Amino acid sequence: MILIKLGGSIITNKQKPLTANISAIKRIASHLKKVKEPYMVVHGGGSFGHYWSVKYDMHTKPDRYSIRGVSVVKNSMVELNRLVLQVFLQSNLNPYCLPPSDFIFGNKPITKKTKEISKIANTGLVPISYGDVMWHGKNKFYILSGDKIIGMLTRILKPRLAIFVTNVDGVYSDIKNRKLIYEITAERPTVADVKMDVTGGMNRKIREAIYMSKGGTDVFFVNGKIPQRMINAVNGKEFEGTLFRGK
Ligand code: IPE
Repeated sequence: MILIKLGGSIITNKQKPLTANISAIKRIASHLKKVKEPYMVVHGGGSFGHYWSVKYDMHTKPDRYSIRGVSVVKNSMVELNRLVLQVFLQSNLNPYCLPPSDFIFGNKPITKKTKEISKIANTGLVPISYGDVMWHGKNKFYILSGDKIIGMLTRILKPRLAIFVTNVDGVYSDIKNRKLIYEITAERPTVADVKMDVTGGMNRKIREAIYMSKGGTDVFFVNGKIPQRMINAVNGKEFEGTLFRGK
């Protein structure tokens, strides 16, 4: 089993609200056709979910956010998901939509349901989930990122590898000079070591990746603008990107 996170930075145009990058999704889908083992895709929100969550001041912390905001964010993610499904179908893949509420309740994965996902993937279908706004109980909602979903799935499904596909080459030790870190082991460097070298959303991904690699999964960060790198990572070929080697 392989888990693939398609970052919002690659499947949408972050500069332009509510615009998907259809050609990037198409290129990724056509490369995914080369993957000959069961895999699942989780996509992010980019200029859809993130755009509206910022507008309505909604965050990952469960709270009583604007009900209008909850509805609008939810709908925007369904819309982006529909576009991803459509492109996958047209590319002759067999996507199978699994909203996160199908296997996550409150803020925890439902183990029994999550385990079924690998059986679904074994049929040749490609389960597709996405970051979303989730019900938390007591009139509270929260934003669940696709990265978090990948982390939860990894703990239960114990995939062979997980790939974070973004719009940069991987994790940089020096962003200005684009100095790429090719390999990070679970023991060294620690989160603190890499934390000061990266910014924003990458931080969360790195934390998740370290945790996942400690559980034994190889975690790759690759640039989705060159989707062959994703396939090279899957096939164990030399690739350009960052690997968090599983312990
Ligand atoms: C965000 O998911 C989901 C919503 C904002 C509803 P992610 O946090 O995984 O999205 P990207 O990949 O960073 O855009």
